[in-house]
Amino acid sequence: MNDNRSDPQANLHLDGKNFRLEMVAGSMGDRAVHLGKLRSETGCMAFDPGMANTAICRSAITFVDGEKGVLLHRGYAIADLVEHCSFIEVAYLLIHGTLPTLEQQQQFSRLLNIHSMLHEDMRSFFGNYPEGAHPMAVLSAMVVSLSSFYPELRLETGKEEMNITVTRLLSKLRTIAAFSYKKSIGEPFVYPSYKFSYCENFLNMMFSSPVSHYRADAYDVAIMNKLLILHADHEQNASTTAVRMVGSTGANLYACISAGICALWGALHGGANQAVVEMLERIQQQGLTVDQVVTMAKDHNDPFRLMGFGHRIYKSYDPRAKIAKQLCMAVLQKKKPNDPLVATALALEERALQDSYFQDRRLYPNVDFYTGLIYRALGFPKEMFTVLFALGRLPGWIAHWQEMHQDPEQKIMRPRQLYTGPGPLPFVPIEERS
Ligand code: CMC
Repeated sequence: MNDNRSDPQANLHLDGKNFRLEMVAGSMGDRAVHLGKLRSETGCMAFDPGMANTAICRSAITFVDGEKGVLLHRGYAIADLVEHCSFIEVAYLLIHGTLPTLEQQQQFSRLLNIHSMLHEDMRSFFGNYPEGAHPMAVLSAMVVSLSSFYPELRLETGKEEMNITVTRLLSKLRTIAAFSYKKSIGEPFVYPSYKFSYCENFLNMMFSSPVSHYRADAYDVAIMNKLLILHADHEQNASTTAVRMVGSTGANLYACISAGICALWGALHGGANQAVVEMLERIQQQGLTVDQVVTMAKDHNDPFRLMGFGHRIYKSYDPRAKIAKQLCMAVLQKKKPNDPLVATALALEERALQDSYFQDRRLYPNVDFYTGLIYRALGFPKEMFTVLFALGRLPGWIAHWQEMHQDPEQKIMRPRQLYTGPGPLPFVPIEERS
């Protein structure tokens, strides 16, 4: 590659020929070689398993500097957003591009309230899932079902209709999430109420019941807001890429979000928050020492990995994890002092960070390492942790879906492969096959 930063092209020497490839740049110093014409001009493809070095789009939503541990949403630092904003403000920021004025926020909240109920016919769906169904399975299926109950968003739709679809989705996902929990414990659904804010409503739908008085604690509401903000977007992660991938085919927004939820479920992505707490419980139950756990995590013959550790982009401490750890300490101090799982988590982090295996690979705690412990202290069961991640990530998915459709450079996502199977074979009739 040409190292002259003023040169807008890169040189590729291949088969004795020189090819000039266009360079493209982001607004914060990132640079990339444009490979759009690589195959047509050179006959070669780019090979990048896991898309580790592939920028699939230009995006103005979120900036991550994984070396320095920086995370900005529409230019604002994550720490500032967590400290000063409600989740709804951050959702508005991601989707509309600017922080809302008071009037815009009130209008947004009004729409969220109006659209929070589910079509009554959808209630019966919940009853048909088996006991113990994972709420992520219910969530993804119910979200795609929304497309058959509510008018499909057309790409040429006006701003007003778009606002309705977006708020409908934000608001109904919260209702579906709470209903799926109520279904799993066999309790009656609690409807959303105009009296409560977004997070307060969610806690109320989760934890109130006809036989006990419940009023969400202001502290819990504030923590919920912060946790959802921490998850609100993270540029081209696997679930956002799934949303963009499905969206690139022209599928409707509900279908795309459902795909994002499925991608998020995996333990290497959003499912890690549940996996971390399960790992900590296993350590407790089996009486493992942190040394034993770290040894297992380092052994490539053992499939065990230290859940909540490592990240594709962050090669320093994940700024979300830093905030989550502080929140965790504060919440646990108030709600569950002396929780043995927290002590194990702290000891495990300290031990791993001193180990050359983790140092050499630059593996640090990620956002999922401490969040499960906070959810647990707030009373959420483990199976709901990834649902909470999905609730938080929804504005990001929507923002990326919108941005993709407004981007003239985007086309159907259709990667290539290096075929490694057999060459053309003569056909063998079934009676001659051995
Ligand atoms: N425990 C032990 N070894 C690890 C871990 C871990 N958690 N993470 C990475 N490694 C090792 C890996 O074995 C490899 O070693 P080597 O170079 O000797 O083969 C090296 O570090 C590089 O790992 P990688 O798998 O090539 O890295 P990746 O960028 O493909 O994977 C990751 C990133 C997050 C999937 C991975 O670090 C991991 O599996 N972490 C545990 C699951 C987790 O916490 N996921 C949540 C991610 S953050 C929130 C989110 O996106 O939802």
